[in-house]
Amino acid sequence: MKNRTRIAAAFTLFAVAGAAMAQQALKPEEMIKFRKAGYSFMAWNMGKIKAQVVDAPQSYNKEQVLAAARLIAATANSGMGALYGPGTDKDVAGEKTRVKPEFFQQPEEVKKVAMAFNKEANELARVAESGDVAAIKGAFGKVGESCKACHDKFRKD
Ligand code: HEC
Repeated sequence: MKNRTRIAAAFTLFAVAGAAMAQQALKPEEMIKFRKAGYSFMAWNMGKIKAQVVDAPQSYNKEQVLAAARLIAATANSGMGALYGPGTDKDVAGEKTRVKPEFFQQPEEVKKVAMAFNKEANELARVAESGDVAAIKGAFGKVGESCKACHDKFRKD
């Protein structure tokens, strides 16, 4: 009996710890750091695609462009909205942010631009599989516009 109680208690503790882990409570400064890292990493991959399909198409490498497009789509699909929690609207603990207050005041508008971006990012990853450089260039341009659409509204210069 005693043992069983102890096991039950251990399971309860485990469940509580599990729930806390699922939430993965980040500090505000960590959220800001991670979202900036995500955007920067996407920008690096956008640069790779631009170099190979816009600037120097003769250097086009299907595998590299596909890998970059998939990275951007995966980041878009990763739920970055979770990195805009309470206390992340201003610089905190030495971590600087350029997010505009409007980001937190207009959730519907944020959702709209974010979903438009997701759509274009997934489309680019799909088109990148074709190896059709002209089509990839078109899809790449649309992703770039959707990045900019969000920055124009929700990122300070
Ligand atoms: C839904 C809105 C949204 C979308 C879509 C978006 N961004 Fe941003 N981006 C932001 C915001 C807000 C910031 C400012 C983040 C901060 O400083 O906390 C930012 C910051 C950045 C930064 C600066 C990061 C840093 O270290 O300060 C880069 C680079 C960037 N974005 C590139 C991109 C690229 C490239 C795309 C598209 C592939 C993109 N973003 C899509 C909202 C967006």
